[in-house]
Parts: sequence; structure tokens; C-alpha cells
Amino acid sequence: MSRKKKGGIMPFLLGIAAALIVGWVIFPQVLYVQGKQPIHFSHKLHQKHIGECELCHSNKEQEPYATQLPSTEDCALCHYEVLTGTPDEERLVKDYIEKDKKIPWKVYQKQPDNVYFSHLPHEDLECTRCHPDVEDTQDMPTRYLNRLTGYTRTTMKMHECERCHAQEGASNACYVCHK
Ligand code: HEC
Ligand code: HEC
Ligand code: HEC
Ligand code: HEC
Ligand code: HEC
Repeated sequence: MSRKKKGGIMPFLLGIAAALIVGWVIFPQVLYVQGKQPIHFSHKLHQKHIGECELCHSNKEQEPYATQLPSTEDCALCHYEVLTGTPDEERLVKDYIEKDKKIPWKVYQKQPDNVYFSHLPHEDLECTRCHPDVEDTQDMPTRYLNRLTGYTRTTMKMHECERCHAQEGASNACYVCHK
């Protein structure tokens, strides 16, 4: 008999607490696949030797979807032989440069196929208007890929594009970004 009375509000509160934990803590962790870059790359270290972002991010092919990530040849310019002998550099030279293999760099933000984005009309803007400031970073961020949508957590949202276009007097007509 007394067991029935135990009902009350406790199970209800516990149920809510469990739902909140699943919704806020567990679900986001299950939703995103975490990805690491194939080789360690430090912008900070390389800035000392290079100074120019364009050496590796020059949008060479000028394709609308060009991701601007460096090619293996960009690295081979200096790493045609082992310079420092760290494990990552050895892998870079042996597994990619000597075999002339493409390095599968992971993309942090890829736009959906129905969105047209090109760096070209944006070339006068600072990279940091749309990307994190990497110049002084030693380690690369983890990439979070959404299992359901196939896009990353840092993929730029429509309202972010539109906010800047409104500020800068660029067009917000639908056909500008959706072809
Ligand atoms: C020697 C080649 C090289 C140079 C020079 C270089 N980068 Fe990179 N950059 C890379 C590589 C490799 C990656 C992909 C791995 C990573 O995430 O760091 C990358 C990734 C990035 C990303 C995406 C990372 C993110 O966190 O979203 C940005 C933004 C970027 N670089 C900006 C710059 C800027 C700005 C400069 C100049 C100050 C610069 N890079 C100079 C090689 C280079
Ligand atoms: C302009 C020359 C130059 C280019 C281009 C260049 N590097 Fe380097 N890299 C260096 C030098 C110099 C060092 C050693 C720096 C030091 O120890 O101070 C180095 C060190 C490294 C190391 C060892 C340090 C570590 O983090 O383990 C790795 C890995 C590396 N580079 C990866 C790359 C990759 C990947 C690319 C192409 C995206 C690249 N580098 C392009 C000059 C270059
Ligand atoms: C107006 C915003 C904007 C500016 C300014 C900008 N980018 Fe991007 N960048 C993007 C978007 C959006 C993407 C994803 C493109 C796609 O999927 O087609 C991207 C992709 C990239 C990538 C591929 C890796 C990643 O993070 O997914 C690199 C590297 C990159 N940009 C570097 C740069 C550099 C270097 C500069 C400055 C010279 C720069 N960008 C300026 C918006 C911008
Ligand atoms: C930080 C500001 C900023 C952000 C963020 C931004 N843009 Fe732009 N965009 C501009 C400016 C400024 C122009 C106009 C350049 C000109 O007129 O020369 C422009 C122009 C364009 C153009 C060419 C327009 C034309 O009439 O030819 C396209 C396409 C475009 N943006 C797409 C995007 C998309 C897609 C995103 C989001 C993924 C985005 N932009 C985010 C500032 C921004
Ligand atoms: C400045 C660029 C830009 C303009 C202008 C723009 N969009 Fe988008 N739109 C995007 C980007 C980037 C995405 C993908 C990211 C996202 O879903 O937020 C997107 C996604 C969408 C989606 C997919 C659903 C969603 O919200 O995720 C629809 C539908 C859409 N846009 C309709 C429109 C319509 C209708 C207009 C005109 C009133 C318009 N867009 C104008 C950049 C733009």
C-alpha cells in the first residue's frame, strides 16, 4: 500500500533531469563526430618562416567551391626532405610528399550544395571576419561533423551571411547565394 504513495513528484523530477542530461549533454556528443587533422600543422611556427597566408591559401583554381586548403606541393616546397624529424613531419615526407599523395585535410566549414560561396568577392575582407584567428595557434581545432546533416558545427549560417551583407551594402537577394 505504502508503495503507491511513493509516486508523487520525485519520479517526475528525475524524468525531467534525465531528459535534460540526454538533451544537453549526451545528444550533442552523439550527434557530432569529432575529427582530427591527418598531420599536425602549427600556423604559429610557420608564420615565423613564411609570413604570407597566400603561399598555402591562394585559391589557385578560383572555383566557386574552392576550399583553399593547401596542396601537398605547397608543403613540398620546404619539406622535400626531413627538416626537424618530428613524427608528424616524418609522416608528411614519407607518406605524402615522397608518394605524391593528397593530404586529406579536414574541412571545418563546408557550405551546402545549394549555396554558392566564393572567396573571390570577399577577398578585401580580413580572414578573421569569417574564420577564427589562427595566426598564433600552435594546435589545430577539433572538427565537429554533424552526423545527420553532414555539415560541421562551424559551417556559416544563412543569417550570418545576411547580417554582414546588410551591414556592408551587399545584395541579399536569394539568387545571390542560391543558384
Ligand atoms: C605553410 C602553409 C600555411 C600557411 C602559410 C598558412 N596556412 Fe592556414 N592552413 C594550413 C593548413 C595545412 C590548414 C589545415 C589544417 C589546420 O586546421 O590548421 C590550414 C587551415 C587554415 C584555416 C582553417 C582553420 C580553422 O580553424 O578554421 C584558416 C582560417 C587559415 N588556415 C588561415 C590562415 C591565415 C590567416 C594564414 C596567414 C596568417 C595562414 N592560414 C597561413 C596551412 C597554412
Ligand atoms: C616556407 C617553408 C615551409 C613550408 C612551405 C612548410 N613548412 Fe613545415 N616547417 C618549416 C620549417 C622551417 C620547420 C621547422 C621549424 C622550427 O623547428 O622552427 C617546419 C616544421 C614542420 C613540422 C614539424 C613541427 C611539428 O609540428 O611537428 C611539420 C609537421 C610541418 N612543418 C608541416 C608542414 C605542412 C603540413 C606543410 C604544408 C601545408 C608545411 N609544413 C609547409 C618550413 C615550411
Ligand atoms: C566572407 C567570409 C569569408 C572570408 C572573409 C574568408 N573566408 Fe575562408 N571560408 C568561408 C566559407 C563560407 C568557407 C566554406 C566554403 C565552402 O564550403 O564552399 C571557407 C573556407 C575556407 C577554408 C577551408 C577550410 C575550412 O575552414 O573549411 C580555408 C582554409 C579558408 N576558408 C581560408 C581563408 C583565408 C586564408 C581567408 C583570408 C585570406 C579567408 N578564408 C577569408 C568564408 C570566408
Ligand atoms: C563579413 C562580411 C560578409 C560575410 C560574413 C559574407 N559576405 Fe558575401 N559579400 C560581402 C561583401 C562586402 C560583398 C560585396 C563585394 C563587392 O560588391 O565587391 C559580398 C558578395 C558576395 C557575393 C557576390 C555577390 C554578387 O553580386 O556578385 C556572394 C555570392 C556572396 N557574397 C555570398 C556569401 C555567402 C554564401 C556567405 C555566407 C556563407 C557570405 N557571402 C558571407 C561580405 C560578406
Ligand atoms: C548572403 C547569402 C544568402 C542569401 C542572400 C540567402 N541565403 Fe538562404 N542560405 C544561405 C546559407 C549559407 C544557407 C545554409 C546554411 C543555413 O542553413 O543556415 C542557406 C539555407 C537556406 C535554406 C535551407 C533551409 C535552412 O534554413 O537551413 C533555404 C530554404 C533558404 N536558404 C532560402 C533562402 C531564401 C528564400 C532567400 C531569399 C529571401 C535566401 N535563402 C537568401 C545563404 C543565403
